[in-house]
Amino acid sequence: MLAMKEIVPPPPSMVRNDVAAVQKLFQQNVVPSYGRFDIVLSHGSGCYLYDITGKRYLDLGGGIAVSSIGHGHPAITEALVEQSKRLIHSSNFYYHESQGRLAQALVNLIGPGKCFFGNSGVEANEGLFKLARKFGHDEGRFEIITTVNSFHGRTLAGIAATGQDKIKKGFEPMVPGFRQVPYNDIAAMQAAISPATVAIMIEGIQGEGGVSPATPDYLLGLRQLCDEKNLLLFMDGVQCGHFRTGRFQSYQRILEDFEETGHPGSPGLSAANFLPDGISMAKSLGGGFPIGAFWVRAPYANLLSAGTHGTTYGGSPLACTVALKVLEVIQREKLADNGRHVGQKLKAGLEALARKFPGVIHNVRGLGLMIGIELAPNISRLPGDAAKTQAVRFANLLHAEGLLAIPAGANILRLLPPLILRQTEAEEGLEIIESVVARLAD
Ligand SMILES: Cc1ncc(COP(=O)(O)O)c(C=O)c1O
Repeated sequence: MLAMKEIVPPPPSMVRNDVAAVQKLFQQNVVPSYGRFDIVLSHGSGCYLYDITGKRYLDLGGGIAVSSIGHGHPAITEALVEQSKRLIHSSNFYYHESQGRLAQALVNLIGPGKCFFGNSGVEANEGLFKLARKFGHDEGRFEIITTVNSFHGRTLAGIAATGQDKIKKGFEPMVPGFRQVPYNDIAAMQAAISPATVAIMIEGIQGEGGVSPATPDYLLGLRQLCDEKNLLLFMDGVQCGHFRTGRFQSYQRILEDFEETGHPGSPGLSAANFLPDGISMAKSLGGGFPIGAFWVRAPYANLLSAGTHGTTYGGSPLACTVALKVLEVIQREKLADNGRHVGQKLKAGLEALARKFPGVIHNVRGLGLMIGIELAPNISRLPGDAAKTQAVRFANLLHAEGLLAIPAGANILRLLPPLILRQTEAEEGLEIIESVVARLAD
């Protein structure tokens, strides 16, 4: 057998801290569908990323809520290396242990049901859409109601489900059967239900839409409505799930104040027994290795029978082994609690900044390590190309100071850091944000 060194040639050394050379490669060869920042990354460690010039960034964006246990975690490396020696891929013609074990772990975390594995968030949602269509098919029901400002991914069904015109624009006609109503508005949802409606999908915390959490009343009201009308209630947990809020799923965190007492507005429906009918997952699930999944509640768990749904790579031995390892690290190191506490302090620090500099920070919201910073409208001292959104221009200032954050819409910055974020790192982030905010204040 060949030794490792003989099989793998050293990487070509064409780029040494030459940002322009890498950007040129992209301009010439990569479809320009992303607005990218002028940063060329090289490597990462824990909550820090390094660019090819050697500059260090505190990564409070977490690759958009993906890098749940940070960069370069040895547990992921070991899982990847060891499993890749055994079996990377098998296809779903055959069984393998880690897919079964990962499904069992997710079922244990959520409740009685089953899981399906794909490769991304939108694919997880797509699976739930198909499940809903199958559920309503014989009664001619197919319509899925989602919410204004939601984001559910970029496939044709994903953009039809998404409640943002800018995502749909240019790709009409939309896949039929999706409709949006205002978020956190139970009366609007009730009014929108038609004889063709089969399901409702919401994010527990709207992410791309600006970090807006659902209220407890809304969640419990939706559950009641779905029970009354025989509709499936789906939660898109792609961004807000996997312990980001301090609990496994955001609805558990949102409803936890009512777990003991029950909710006064919904007699008979307590937060303790609230369960959606389907949950989509991705992002933090693989800690950076692509994997998506949906969980479906037990009564509907066998609707997608053999031959009705699938994907070649879904739930591969490698993906599932890594996801199991990520889960093990999160649970062993109590990262949900860490995220809850560090997130609370980070949010409190940002709220103090909003009070001190109301002309720059308008509002701070979110739960755990999913925090949105809403900028004040028209910050006069904000430099940069006026054609770019305030969020992008503000992010550029943070980048210059060595902090990564993610724009959400035109005016909001999102913090979605690794769940391993330490208190000292959160304080470092706050100091950087304060230095930028103070410069912009009148
Ligand atoms: C709530 C939500 N759903 C779905 C998606 C789509 O996930 P993916 O990009 O992995 O397809 C995203 C991605 O940002 C998301 O935030």
